[in-house]
Amino acid sequence: MAHPPPPHRLKTSIAIIGAGDVGSTLAYTLLHDSICTEVIMVDPKKELLEGQVRDLGDATYGGRSGTRVRAGTHRDASHSDIIVITAGAKQKEGETRLDLLTRNLAILKSIFEPMKPINSTSIVLLVANPVDILTYFAREMSGLPESQVLGTGTSLDSARLRGELSRRAEVAASSIDAYVLGEHGDGQFIAWSSASIGTTPLHLTLPPNTLTPATKAEIASHTRGAAGAIIAAKGCTSFGIGSVAASICKYIIFDSHTVRPLSFFQPELGCCLSMPAVIGRKGIVRAMRIELDEEERGFLVSCAENLRGVIRGAEE
Ligand code: 2OP
Repeated sequence: MAHPPPPHRLKTSIAIIGAGDVGSTLAYTLLHDSICTEVIMVDPKKELLEGQVRDLGDATYGGRSGTRVRAGTHRDASHSDIIVITAGAKQKEGETRLDLLTRNLAILKSIFEPMKPINSTSIVLLVANPVDILTYFAREMSGLPESQVLGTGTSLDSARLRGELSRRAEVAASSIDAYVLGEHGDGQFIAWSSASIGTTPLHLTLPPNTLTPATKAEIASHTRGAAGAIIAAKGCTSFGIGSVAASICKYIIFDSHTVRPLSFFQPELGCCLSMPAVIGRKGIVRAMRIELDEEERGFLVSCAENLRGVIRGAEE
């Protein structure tokens, strides 16, 4: 029996709402890696949108990419396989991600109104901040099943953590299994108790007395503060988050069933925050169980309490 063409040979469309630094970096990564056959960019700033699309188009004419990039409308986006929402105010130096909530929640509402009804199999991926809160509200706004609305969450923080551990352990970051969980923000925490290199617990792979409480605190502070340092230096972050968002799109389009920490609704906590999950064409395929120690469980509960408080405030 002839096998159907692999997903990436079918017409696959990814819409990016927001043609700014992050949206354009994501678009470039998608077309550079030919992750889909079409990228649709949507932005109310028409001149910026046209400029980004033309500039990205120039990157496809070399024949390397199988991806076509075009400007589109919210209605065009509503039919895409994946709708990535990068649009929103970005953090200024000294601002927290939660400081963006009022502005970016209003932008989110303005995005979903003209998009609805959204194709019933579309996946919505939130990138804009505060990503956990926006993911929570996007579930209701989209009208899609829970599993089809998710956020990049602490995937980027976990990549930053693996980079820091890679430097200290002198091991490839791809060989390090370590998660930042909870809020993509100040409420994040590192699941040290389950971190490993290969199949060896992290603390056994480093020289004795390396992973002291002080060192763990230093690594956690470096990870939590990474965005702030980059924003202070260049005004925004784009390459890290653009690359992470493109990877998540790839897992979805190729239905890879990869495990990543992603922001999605946690029924027992009453909010969206990042926990490990299997990601595929249907979005969150299933949550992955993770053993947390008592301290990590405490961080998770207090993180959820804080996020529920922010949600209640936004609903008032
Ligand atoms: C980041 O962590 C700003 O949330 C963005 O790079």
